[in-house]
Amino acid sequence: MLLDRSAIRLLRRRLLAWFDRSRRDLPWRRDRDPYRIWVSEVMLQQTTVPTVARRFESFLARFPTLGDLARAEESDVLQAWQGLGYYRRARHLHAAAKKILRDHDGKFPDQPGPCRELPGMGPYLVNAVLSQAFERRLPILEANTQRLYCRLLNEAGDPTTASVRQRLLAFAESLLPDQRVGDFNQALMELGALVCLPGTPDCSRCPLADFCQARRAGTQAVVPLTRRRSPIERREEIALVVWRRDRALLLQRPENGRWPLLWEFPRASRSRDESSEETAVRAAKQLAGIDVRLRRRLGIVRYSVLREHVTVECWEAQWRRGQVSPSWHLSGRWLPIADWPALPCSSPQRRLALLASQGGTCPAEE
Ligand code: ADE
Repeated sequence: MLLDRSAIRLLRRRLLAWFDRSRRDLPWRRDRDPYRIWVSEVMLQQTTVPTVARRFESFLARFPTLGDLARAEESDVLQAWQGLGYYRRARHLHAAAKKILRDHDGKFPDQPGPCRELPGMGPYLVNAVLSQAFERRLPILEANTQRLYCRLLNEAGDPTTASVRQRLLAFAESLLPDQRVGDFNQALMELGALVCLPGTPDCSRCPLADFCQARRAGTQAVVPLTRRRSPIERREEIALVVWRRDRALLLQRPENGRWPLLWEFPRASRSRDESSEETAVRAAKQLAGIDVRLRRRLGIVRYSVLREHVTVECWEAQWRRGQVSPSWHLSGRWLPIADWPALPCSSPQRRLALLASQGGTCPAEE
């Protein structure tokens, strides 16, 4: 079902009026600067609104303009991204800023074609940024709007399939107003985030309830179809803070895979037939080529990534012998505590560093 023209006009008016009344005051909604909007949308792709709201201004304070970001060192960008996760986004953002500086005179392109050629710019990002920054009539489809469109259309199919996505995008395009397109797209996302919730939506507060086919059919709690998620996995890891005099060993992860180029203490998954101590000694030997003597257990850090819950047992050790020669990491460095904060690290590693520095260094014999 597609709505007729007068219904669409009414829907637009109701949605925008609701947005004007109900919108959250979020830092990226205060102006239409393409750079700020772009940064916010990249952050919001995989990080929650409250976390982005806390981190957005500090990132912008560090890199106030696109030129500042383009000219920054990659390690500084990664460092500023700490806590937001999915670090590949930060690398793409940085590479795209460089390309904009080089190819577009530092001005964010206002057309879809050149935007699509920027690193990390998928269809959602292009349309979200151009609609908000330049009022381009481009539809958006992300998690919140996907759920909303499915309910408005009472879509029975799986929204992750190409055919259903195409239908949803065509529907989204048919809704777009001639003016206030950026606000309209944000209003759709806001409605999905605040009212048209997963599980049971709050239809009594919905400005679009009169247009909703799922509500009419009573299917709003079961639409959209959700795929069964893979079960949560649990894993145990050992991390090692190896001291050599007043410096501890940190290793830099490779460019690809999880946490690209971030620094970490040597760590390894503990297998069932190994004690924590055995894993710790093995990790130092296999990852860094060094022999260590364990000193003490510092504590536990827990984290979750994707569908994995990880418990990290953190140990303190003393270097005994061997030159550091990383087998998997890009490089290794012995660094005093004072230098740790400047290194880009994942959040779990930052917590480990805190544990290690609270445990105190133990300058001791070599
Ligand atoms: N999720 C993705 N983009 C968003 C935006 N601009 N406002 C709120 N949530 C979002």
